[in-house]
Amino acid sequence: MIEDVEVSGKRVLLRADLNVTFKPGSTRIADDSRIHASVATIELLRSRGARVVLCSHLGRPKGKVVPEMRIEPVRERMSEVLGVDVGYAGGPVGEEAERVVESLNDSDVAMLENLRFDPGEEDNDADFSNSLASLADVFVNDAFGASHRAHASIVGVADLLPTYAGLLMRAEIVALERAVDSAERPAVAILGGSKVADKLGVVKNLAPNTDAVLIGGGMVSAMLAAQGKSVGSVDVSDDEMKAAKELLDDPIVVDKLHLPTDVIVAEEFSGDSRYIETSADSVPESGFILDIGSQTISNYVDAIGTAEKIVWNGPMGLFEWEAFSGGTQSIASAISDNESAFKLAGGGSTVEAINSLGIADAITHISTGGGASLEFLEGKTLPGIAALHVI
Ligand code: 3PG
Repeated sequence: MIEDVEVSGKRVLLRADLNVTFKPGSTRIADDSRIHASVATIELLRSRGARVVLCSHLGRPKGKVVPEMRIEPVRERMSEVLGVDVGYAGGPVGEEAERVVESLNDSDVAMLENLRFDPGEEDNDADFSNSLASLADVFVNDAFGASHRAHASIVGVADLLPTYAGLLMRAEIVALERAVDSAERPAVAILGGSKVADKLGVVKNLAPNTDAVLIGGGMVSAMLAAQGKSVGSVDVSDDEMKAAKELLDDPIVVDKLHLPTDVIVAEEFSGDSRYIETSADSVPESGFILDIGSQTISNYVDAIGTAEKIVWNGPMGLFEWEAFSGGTQSIASAISDNESAFKLAGGGSTVEAINSLGIADAITHISTGGGASLEFLEGKTLPGIAALHVI
């Protein structure tokens, strides 16, 4: 465990997932929760006198320098959050980075440039991994959110240096293992979001150890269409139809599956559209299903209230639009009100909903991973976790 490692005076390469979102068209950070979530490991290393070489990817620059994806806003915010000046290392690797790292004193922190500016990162290139490894004596991987990527800074370096999991990585693994485990019952999975295909693997993997799988969000249209029901103006793609049918045809899944019995249908796809609440069996020929209805909310709230384990990924409707936020808000309140359950939430828009409703403190663990959490919940082996050997 990283707490047992003598890091004083050593250079520690710390891979974090600082891939934050920005306000549209600006370099102002919209959500800095990944920065805050990375602080515990940085502080642990600093308190033990390590020389911290912090690194992350930012966006998808595809192996080129893209000026608006420079790490600078992240470095600046990290300096503010830590209350120390985080140095800038110039490049992801290279002479300047080497010079900056050599000049670090014990407990100092410097940040490398966006790792994905170098094509070697995503290619898991041996030279790039060697260059990164040459900057450090020890490697700590705290980037759970990127652990589904077999990239140089996630798996390549782990073969070249003594490697440990960071505190966030460990907390994520422990919480997600608990989420997929069968022990706590009744267990409820609440799954929303726009595509059934994205959640197919999660539903199939969770269903055997779950008592109720509650479905909401954009997925509802495909699920109802696959049952032969009208879903208004929405054109459900063949892929979505196939994924929805696969769930309905799975005997274990279908036994646990709860679909909305009523829905909110907007005349137009707009936040100020007129809307009606209607039975899921009689959605008009035109219009858009943008939220779950009140009877569905009541059923879902009952299931959540008696659960001992709750896994939540995906809003119930288009909650960004006030008129269609009722389902997500009610589900969030019910989760918050259940004080005894283990509660895990994940996914970008779920976390956004949690933060905007101010219920973050009521969730046992909010995962910093998007794709990584989903792959874990699907039961896949994540290359970044496999590369750790010891956690
Ligand atoms: C994320 O935002 O889910 C992680 O940082 C991984 O980013 P990626 O999908 O661009 O690899």
